[in-house]
Amino acid sequence: MTAELDMTRIPQHIAIIMDGNGRWAMERGKERTYGHQAGVEAVRRITSECTRLGVKYLTLYTFSTENWNRPDDEVAALMGLVLSSLEDEIFMKNNVRFRVIGDLGRLPEAVQQKLRETEEHTAKNDAMTMVVALSYSSKLEIVRAMQKMAQEVKDGTLTPESIDEKTVDEHLWTSFMPDPDLLIRTGGEVRISNYLLWQIAYSELYFCDTYWPDFGEQELRKAIQSFQSRQRRFGKTEAQVEEEEK
Ligand code: IPE
Ligand code: IPE
Ligand code: MG
Repeated sequence: MTAELDMTRIPQHIAIIMDGNGRWAMERGKERTYGHQAGVEAVRRITSECTRLGVKYLTLYTFSTENWNRPDDEVAALMGLVLSSLEDEIFMKNNVRFRVIGDLGRLPEAVQQKLRETEEHTAKNDAMTMVVALSYSSKLEIVRAMQKMAQEVKDGTLTPESIDEKTVDEHLWTSFMPDPDLLIRTGGEVRISNYLLWQIAYSELYFCDTYWPDFGEQELRKAIQSFQSRQRRFGKTEAQVEEEEK
């Protein structure tokens, strides 16, 4: 069964909380890291499918600042996977630009360097931008934005009265992209876990039980279909929105 999609209403920006790798592996009697490896395959599938569908931004929650508290061996395995999975070839083949957001200074130097290189090598690709949130915390992102704005006020380049939503947008790590239209969380939990708090103010939310390694093209289409079945009202009435759509 292929979900019918309206190709004129594909979300421009999809953000995903890729959850459930560990449980997927445990259910198979394997180590959690086996699940993370399988998760990389799911990233490849979903990235390709998003480029085929014409999605412009795909933001993937890969590692939170809270995830630094996991056992050392799991953290090390995840860092190793980031290093080994960042292959230029895959980005080039799909014409995908790679960007990373997060508290990158906490990452091992080799990982930081690989991230920088991949960003540079893919800078001219323009089919889609894949954004990886790594060592990411939305609250920290907002704190850093506030610090930058406070410094600019102190330096006299920004006035408190002129600060508006756009100013805040411009000081966040995500300043280069629009807010997500659709946020998907796999793995059954119904929470946000410190992801893009400011940016998802008006995103459509979609939660599914499927563990991330099992999340495939059909599941993605189902999520987009759900998105397309909703009316985004942005505070207006149903009738107002229908009138505007004519
Ligand atoms: C998501 O899967 C990936 C990361 C957080 C790195 P989990 O590792 O959280 O998997 P579960 O939730 O334990 O199943
Ligand atoms: C959220 O998953 C972070 C990522 C998917 C990278 P977690 O598994 O860490 O979230 P919690 O701890 O269950 O909220
Ligand atoms: Mg989890």
